[in-house]
Amino acid sequence: MPDRVTINEVGPRDGLQSQSRILPVTERLQLIRALEEAGISRIEAGSFVSPTAVPAMADTDKLLQSLVPPGSADYSFLIPNMKGYELARAAGAESVTMVIYASETMARRNARMGMAEAERAAWKIIDLARADGIEVIVIVAVSFGCPFEGAVDSAVVRDIAARFVAAGIHRLVLADTIGAADPAQVSALLTSLAQSHGAGVFGCHFHDTRAMALANVYAALEAGVRWFDSSIGGLGGCPFAPGASGNVATEDVAVMLRQMGMETGIDAAALLAASDLATELTGTAPGGRVREWLRGQLTS
Ligand code: COA
Ligand code: ZN
Repeated sequence: MPDRVTINEVGPRDGLQSQSRILPVTERLQLIRALEEAGISRIEAGSFVSPTAVPAMADTDKLLQSLVPPGSADYSFLIPNMKGYELARAAGAESVTMVIYASETMARRNARMGMAEAERAAWKIIDLARADGIEVIVIVAVSFGCPFEGAVDSAVVRDIAARFVAAGIHRLVLADTIGAADPAQVSALLTSLAQSHGAGVFGCHFHDTRAMALANVYAALEAGVRWFDSSIGGLGGCPFAPGASGNVATEDVAVMLRQMGMETGIDAAALLAASDLATELTGTAPGGRVREWLRGQLTS
């Protein structure tokens, strides 16, 4: 049996949230359907956040309600606070991704809460969600470095992980929000976490600001991680984290994993079509490196 890796496509959320062109719901839906055609099994489809703060994510309730019939993917929706949870639940979300923080300043800039307050909100949401039958993924922003505070002590992340794993969290994703991590750092942290808790609960979310995202994916893979966030066309970036650039491109991750004999369920030709669509809809040059090579392979 080949090793199975889950690619959680975050293009429709992370990828679109800071684009200069705001996509209407119909186009966001079109992108999600194209990603499903490519065999992507998990999609972060949008976020329930203040539409004033992030205009591109307005109307995520309408988007969710348009995802009927549901396609082949499981959808999750990013939330920053209890209000986001309530809106997601009211719209019928089956999975939410709650953001907590490994630095105080990032917590205040992104959510206008302290780290501890955001974590308390996450605990309340986990409790409610258990009764509501909603899955909660917790994502730890700036786990590898903060745009305001610089280096993040890995002990902070390890303490967060210990608390959530002990409580039986379904998935804890460590995010390199600004693309500051290097493979040695990723290897050290994830190897230590995997030794303490097993690797199965963890996921990683890398941005490619310093061109190390794919190397970081490999380092986490070696530590046993089998869940990666990535974004079609390498789109992405947080509007509240200065200097953050695109996520690791789904195309690059999928091609690397396949070449190494790992199974993602992704069809390369359909993925390329989704990537072309993402470029067309956003008007943004695609990130990632493998796209043109892949196109050559598929047309030769
Ligand atoms: N969904 C929709 N609206 C929200 C919201 C949410 N999850 N959280 C807050 N709001 C609204 C409030 O209701 C308020 O609306 P109003 O001005 O019409 O009354 C407005 O946002 C500002 O509220 P305020 O009380 O000043 O702050 P807050 O603490 O409630 O919320 C944020 C602040 C930062 C959470 C909110 O602005 C936000 O959603 N930011 C986006 C975060 C994000 O997406 N970051 C990138 C991805 S990690
Ligand atoms: Zn991100």
